[in-house]
Amino acid sequence: MEKVMKLPRHVAIILDGNGRWAKAKGMPRSFGHQEGLKALVELIKYTNSIGLEELSVFGFSTENWNRPRTEINYIMGLVEKGYKNYQEKIKTMDLKIKIVGELEMLKPNLQKIANELEEATKDNKGMTLNVFFSYGGKQELVRAFKKLEGQEITIETIQNNLDIKTDVDLLIRTGGNQRISNFLIWQLAYAELYFTEVYFPDFKKEDFDQAIEYYNKQERRFGGLK
Ligand code: IPE
Ligand code: MG
Repeated sequence: MEKVMKLPRHVAIILDGNGRWAKAKGMPRSFGHQEGLKALVELIKYTNSIGLEELSVFGFSTENWNRPRTEINYIMGLVEKGYKNYQEKIKTMDLKIKIVGELEMLKPNLQKIANELEEATKDNKGMTLNVFFSYGGKQELVRAFKKLEGQEITIETIQNNLDIKTDVDLLIRTGGNQRISNFLIWQLAYAELYFTEVYFPDFKKEDFDQAIEYYNKQERRFGGLK
């Protein structure tokens, strides 16, 4: 990042357009997921290197379970393979990793990977990386409300029972659609929204910088006057 710009504290990103990216190249959707994973690794390295505090990545939604079994299996296999190839490297990257979602829907080996990653990185001091997998925003709210039984219902008590307790400052969505798709509903309440046509496998650090530039141009008033 060359220009002096203020980094948002918490950036969330909806990775979209893997399939269309591949299709445009006459390739199968699976190729898009494979290249999307590579782009994600680069994005994580970059955001950690510039000192971002927290990055939330929407990888696989509860609704994505409705995709054909072959595509789901491919994505799950990619995660498993990626973990096998990179597990030592990930542990040296100084990331604090949290996997968020309905993990009980995953095969036991993927649940094990999620636990291992959290355990191995919990004392790291670098960027907090929240990976949303088998995740839905409404489902997270239901989980939080269930934990509230017997407690007073306030903004604070709800927030304290969420999986992710920090508000998002900037949401990026690649792939051209302008929607939230059941991502962090509560935490996006005051986020700046940045949509780009770029398909995720093509999303480079320059594209991330552009989103930060957009963020820096917004006047954040949180409903007040300045
Ligand atoms: C996003 O890309 C990745 C996942 C949901 C796993 P898509 O697979 O949604 O790609 P498009 O939107 O069909 O192009
Ligand atoms: Mg999509």
